[in-house]
Amino acid sequence: MFDIIEDPSDTAMVDAIALLKSDHRKTEDLFVQYETSDDEDEKTALAHQICTELKIHTLIEEEIFYPALEGKIKDDTLEEAFVEHDGAKVLINDIEAGTAADEYYDAKVKVLSEEVKHHVKEEEMPDVGMFAQARAAEIDLMALGAELKARKLELVAQADNEGLPPAKPTVVTTAFA
Ligand SMILES: [Fe+2]
Ligand SMILES: [Fe+2]
Repeated sequence: MFDIIEDPSDTAMVDAIALLKSDHRKTEDLFVQYETSDDEDEKTALAHQICTELKIHTLIEEEIFYPALEGKIKDDTLEEAFVEHDGAKVLINDIEAGTAADEYYDAKVKVLSEEVKHHVKEEEMPDVGMFAQARAAEIDLMALGAELKARKLELVAQADNEGLPPAKPTVVTTAFA
């Protein structure tokens, strides 16, 4: 199901930014599949897959990638990224708890896709985006890529076995029950 992570025995080195960008492309593709589907069960499965992908992606960024950038890129860039992640988590948990038969479901998935699009642009923007700032800084992106990949494999296995818990906020303090 989670085909972006390759064969776990694949030990090929991967650049941190290449790994994160490949997650972004995968999620964009899933949103397009959702929008073009008119089968309720398929839409529910796609929406739930999007949520799992996004939970894993935000976790590995927040646990490993963002902390490695602290003090090396602009504080604003990192702080806004954390807040954007927390904003998306509200819809991720809500979408995951429902199905495409629910009222407002398409709207929730659409708004989540717009939030993600904005956030991905902030990360990938040429010259001034987070990734461009990281490339310009003294950061070992290959070592970081290995760490991201290892943690991602763990989380994919957890998602496939017992499932991941709902997304938890990191910096927004009052919006979650
Ligand atoms: Fe990202
Ligand atoms: Fe992010």
